[in-house]
Amino acid sequence: MRMQEPSQTMEATYSHHLLNLLLLSFLLLSPRAFAAGDIADTFSKGRNITDNETLVSADGAFTMGFFSPGVSTKRFLGIWFTVSRDAVCWVANRDRPLNDNSGVLVLSDAGSLLLLDGSGQVTWSSNSSSPSPVEAQLLNSGKLVVRNRGSSTVLWHSFDHPSNVLLSGMKVGKDFWSGAEWYLTSWRSADDPSPGAYRRVLDTNGLPDNIVWQGNVKTFRTGPWNGLWFSGIPEVLTYSSLIEYQMVTTPREITYGYVVKSGSPFTYVVLTDTGIVKRLVWDASSRAWQTYYQGPRDVCDAYGKCGPFGLCNSSAASTSFCSCLKGFSPASPSAWNLRDTSAGCRRKVKLDCGDKNRTTDGFVLLHGVKLPDTHNASVDTSITVEECSARCLANCTCLAYAAADIRGGGGAGSGCIIWTDDIMDLRYVDQGQDMYLRLAQVELPSPSTSPSPPSSRSIPTALVVGASVASIAVILLILLVVLVIRRRRRLTISAAQSPAPAAPSIEQTNPPPTVPSVELSSLKGATGNFSESNIIGRGGFAIVYEGHLSDGTKVAVKRLIRSSLTEVGGEDFMREVKVMSELSHANLVQLLSYCNDGNERILVYEYMKNKSLNIYIFGGDPRFRSLLNWERRLEIIRGVAKGVAYLHGLSKEVIHRDLKPSNILLDDNWRPKIADFGTAKLFVVDQTDPTLVQTAGYTAPEYIMERYMTLKCDVYSFGVILLEIISGQRNSTKPTLLSDAWESWNQGRISNLLDSTVAQPEPVLLFELERCVQIGLLCVQQSPDDRPTMSAVVTMLNNNSQFRLPKRPVLDSRTGSPFSEANRSTQHASGTSGDSYTIYLT
Ligand SMILES: *[C@@H]1O[C@H](CO)[C@@H](O)[C@H](O)[C@H]1NC(C)=O
Ligand SMILES: *[C@@H]1O[C@H](CO)[C@@H](O)[C@H](O)[C@H]1NC(C)=O
Ligand SMILES: *[C@@H]1O[C@H](CO)[C@@H](O)[C@H](O)[C@H]1NC(C)=O
Ligand SMILES: *[C@@H]1O[C@H](CO)[C@@H](O)[C@H](O)[C@H]1NC(C)=O
Ligand SMILES: *[C@@H]1O[C@H](CO)[C@@H](O)[C@H](O)[C@H]1NC(C)=O
Repeated sequence: MRMQEPSQTMEATYSHHLLNLLLLSFLLLSPRAFAAGDIADTFSKGRNITDNETLVSADGAFTMGFFSPGVSTKRFLGIWFTVSRDAVCWVANRDRPLNDNSGVLVLSDAGSLLLLDGSGQVTWSSNSSSPSPVEAQLLNSGKLVVRNRGSSTVLWHSFDHPSNVLLSGMKVGKDFWSGAEWYLTSWRSADDPSPGAYRRVLDTNGLPDNIVWQGNVKTFRTGPWNGLWFSGIPEVLTYSSLIEYQMVTTPREITYGYVVKSGSPFTYVVLTDTGIVKRLVWDASSRAWQTYYQGPRDVCDAYGKCGPFGLCNSSAASTSFCSCLKGFSPASPSAWNLRDTSAGCRRKVKLDCGDKNRTTDGFVLLHGVKLPDTHNASVDTSITVEECSARCLANCTCLAYAAADIRGGGGAGSGCIIWTDDIMDLRYVDQGQDMYLRLAQVELPSPSTSPSPPSSRSIPTALVVGASVASIAVILLILLVVLVIRRRRRLTISAAQSPAPAAPSIEQTNPPPTVPSVELSSLKGATGNFSESNIIGRGGFAIVYEGHLSDGTKVAVKRLIRSSLTEVGGEDFMREVKVMSELSHANLVQLLSYCNDGNERILVYEYMKNKSLNIYIFGGDPRFRSLLNWERRLEIIRGVAKGVAYLHGLSKEVIHRDLKPSNILLDDNWRPKIADFGTAKLFVVDQTDPTLVQTAGYTAPEYIMERYMTLKCDVYSFGVILLEIISGQRNSTKPTLLSDAWESWNQGRISNLLDSTVAQPEPVLLFELERCVQIGLLCVQQSPDDRPTMSAVVTMLNNNSQFRLPKRPVLDSRTGSPFSEANRSTQHASGTSGDSYTIYLT
């Protein structure tokens, strides 16, 4: 459309202006600016745009003009959604701001669109050139074009120079013929549109994947294109009525964009100055932009969060987002424990690469993932997924494969992605894809020792197909066997059997078989129908009863309080039972059996005659205290250390989370046994009250302040318990316990610290106690890094080697903690509200 003479305007563009009026009526435009609407969407040489004039697209959707972003007073030439002046889609002079209102946009004789400052200097140029006269137009799509007057040949357009916004009809990616590349660059800040820290670039190696870069570091990926959407952003399906993706993959170009469907509200994608990608949609009724999508959306979207061969699960507990892929273990277990998972995981058993036709390797299926980075992967869209599998097995450089396109293949997809180096940035995602990870035979879920049938071994394709069929069969078989065994047990075992006597050595290797389940009726019989008189302990989550089995064995029956169970409690309960049944150590209370019947969740443990440690070390009656002499106390400390080290040392790396004297039970020989390690708390209602998760006085400062739970939190709790065992004082009621202990130790006078109700130790014991205090002080160091691991503690407790000197503990270990004095007196006055296994004296 040409520029109109004012006299022609009324007739020629009446309806057009009416529309503009309707759309713009909410904008309190100055009369001058509104008059600028007269130039409509097009202008040509001789008609300049000054600071207070605007160009509006024919349908009124977009406006071009001068603006100042945020609190800035600098002037920029930009294009924005007319409905929302803040929604700037494009900026011409991003890094050459104008300092005043004297800027003017003109068309040069040579065919360029020029932005001139007050002194006539060119601040920005379209760099287009043409011998014949040109005009500029703001199209309904928000695209500014420069072209020869009356011609459709575009000399220059703004979509070729994206800022931080992807509009409908724009594209990002590469043109291999021209070498052109389009990508988004964030603003520096909300007040400064100059190019900022983040870029969002379509990676065209492997499968197309939108990658956000901060400098040369990848921060976030959408995941590879799967034919319908980007693997990690299944959300688009929820607004597929709004937009349609446009992916072009030809030898000439690989580009991605989208178009809004007709009748849809305004929408755009922006890369914010903080590196976040958002899809915003205009909600006309509330006159606001709604965020339809935002990424990264959680911790697992942080690129490479779990390192190579790591797998991120954002629904897992905050301490365990990351796990290693099956067949892999942390490359740096110590860093991994401190939640530095960036080093990722290593393969445990080498692949079988001898003869490609006779490999015994197979695949495990990872279901529902955002596919890993395909930058270095090879992609072949022409073969089937079965062929892909065979190709992977035949070439030992192949570590994993997946379908390249989820369409077709009867639901299995088609095409082939083969990964040959690090599997990076893998996470679970709703409606995620299937990926097949190549593993050595022993790591495969099928019975590890039985070799595959030789006939199928020689034919890789058959092996693969066979393997998947076989694994399904094996899984079904295992399920069947489990069901039958459980049935049998239910029929034959009327009560828990007596435990195998705990071995005296700490290194028990063979986990016992999964503990049997027991009928509710026999537990009712054993506890006098859960009679009050049989209660030996009561906590926030459970009541513990003394039980007498028909064979005369005494057991502790821990009945979870029904109201505290979550809906998924049943499932989690079985998971916990499985974990607990696999834990067996002389210093852990042994789980004997369980009951999962209707609403009842009951755990049956070995009975501990001497009840819990707190009774003795804090006992009001000095006779209880003196029962535990210094030798016994040292043995108890060593035993607890071994028990915790065992929990920490397992491949599962169980964090106890709630170590305290009331969770340490004593058997007939005063041997300590740690209770409640099964984290019964995990499957009861999530209590946001932190005092219910841990008990005041034993909680590491980093957990109180940052909810940062690692093995080192247990080390801290252990240190406190150690000092309490030595001093007979509760850290929760004597805030200076830790600093007093340090003072005594530092002055070489630990006898000041020792519980005076216990007979004075011999000099040789005193020396041992002094070492012990030093170890305890190391365990309660403020920084988790300064604390030793539990296995190091065990070593230190058992030999006389030199070790580090502890720093003075922070005066009140609860500084900055939510356990204010007021809180403590209400929550912990009795010391029971957080206890889940407090044994009462009967
Ligand atoms: C447009 O700007 C140019 C350069 O500043 C100036 O020479 C010209 O006179 C202006 N034209 C109009 C119509 O304002
Ligand atoms: C125009 O050319 C100048 C100088 O080569 C360059 O700095 C500028 O980025 C170009 N502008 C556009 C819009 O391409
Ligand atoms: C992720 O973790 C949650 C919580 O532990 C679990 O329920 C879920 O099954 C895990 N997701 C996958 C895909 O394993
Ligand atoms: C791809 O290979 C290059 C060069 O070996 C390497 O630096 C890069 O980390 C690899 N990328 C991924 C995602 O594995
Ligand atoms: C195995 O795969 C690698 C990497 O994709 C490739 O370079 C090599 O040619 C393949 N070898 C065979 C025998 O196909």
